Amino acid sequence: MKRTEVYAHRGFSAMAPENTMAAFQRAVDAGADGVELDVHLTKDNKVVVIHDETVKRTTDGTGKVRELTLEELRRLDAGSWFDPEFKGEKIPTLEEVLQLVAEHGMKINIELKNNRVIYPELEQKVANLLQQYGLVKQAVISSFNHYSLKVMKQVQPEIDTAILYMEGLVDPWVYAKHAGATSLHPYWYTVVEEVVKGCQKENLPVRPFTVNQPKGMRRLLQLGVDAIITDKPDVLREEMEKT
Ligand code: G3P
Ligand code: CA
Repeated sequence: MKRTEVYAHRGFSAMAPENTMAAFQRAVDAGADGVELDVHLTKDNKVVVIHDETVKRTTDGTGKVRELTLEELRRLDAGSWFDPEFKGEKIPTLEEVLQLVAEHGMKINIELKNNRVIYPELEQKVANLLQQYGLVKQAVISSFNHYSLKVMKQVQPEIDTAILYMEGLVDPWVYAKHAGATSLHPYWYTVVEEVVKGCQKENLPVRPFTVNQPKGMRRLLQLGVDAIITDKPDVLREEMEKT
């Protein structure tokens, strides 16, 4: 049976400020197979890595990502809110992270945060960057905006796209197939044996998020999910060694 892969959620976000190069570098150091991150577009249409639509929670600035230029965003401190040790960490561009991922032969899960903001041509921009760094086959694109995933497949048919969802769905593999997606990223609590079996039958990888408790990790490892997305890749690795 294939080993479950470890994806560091927003980088190793239990150890370093989420979605910063410090968090991605720590994910590399912890031996994660891949990193998960969130992308938005700036006022000048650059793809940047940040979770929220505004910079308030994770930087020392204010305002919406969409209303700030890359230069303005890069002046913000994205590390001190987590710990003074990380003062000076910046909001990364997607390109910076792709460089790191390519250098280490890792996988990457790019979540398009376009379920509450419209970002014209975000799909095309992300596809172009993946092509540029030779990462199309190592990437999975996820979104709560399933229409955007359909657009992504039209733009780059080879890319793996993952249906993100929170609530329990009936036969989610049927929905994923209907939507033209090639994998499933469910909220971890909704993943039961029937879901994993149904997806395996349809060759749809299942990668639950965001699993931080050892007990939950053990349950999902036993079910044979393809990957687990976690803030704590170190804890997950420990659990995997025990099973
Ligand atoms: O991609 C899984 C997970 O990251 C989705 O939720 O809010 O952590 O981006 P969130
Ligand atoms: Ca995310």
